Amino acid sequence: MIHVLFVCLGNICRSPMAEAIFGHLVTQAGLEQQITWDSAGTSNYHPGKLPDIRTRQVLEAHGIRTQHLARQVRNPDFEKYDYVLAMDQHNLRDLTRVFQSHPPARSKLELMGAYCEDGLCADVPDPYYGDLSDFEDVYQMLAPACQRLLTTICTEHRL
Ligand code: 4NP
Repeated sequence: MIHVLFVCLGNICRSPMAEAIFGHLVTQAGLEQQITWDSAGTSNYHPGKLPDIRTRQVLEAHGIRTQHLARQVRNPDFEKYDYVLAMDQHNLRDLTRVFQSHPPARSKLELMGAYCEDGLCADVPDPYYGDLSDFEDVYQMLAPACQRLLTTICTEHRL
């Protein structure tokens, strides 16, 4: 099994969107027996909450469902997850701090932007204080990045 975790600050906007898109792609590819996916936040601002209504609206508009409930990243995640994708530099810095204080970690910790189209979108911008179009912009960044991530995982693990 290959375990993939998407991480942002609140776990209600970006990372649950990435998780839902990625899960949709994994399911479409028939790889649910080989790959698991989840998301979490570096903060504990919204424990147990559904994704932000705007994340749900954008996902629904693209035919993708989510039932994720927000949770904070916890130390055992670094033992379980093979790939941990941070949405922005702040998330990456926060994760690196926990990661280093918790050996042995097996996770490959990376920026989601590493899988963006031109490799230029280092950060997936936080849409929380924006409007629905900012959430759609996030979707447009995440959808191809999730596809690239899945292709990379399939190549690395010969799936
Ligand atoms: P996310 O967005 O990190 O993409 O889930 C945010 C959600 C909530 C807050 C900040 C960012 N907040 O400050 O509550």
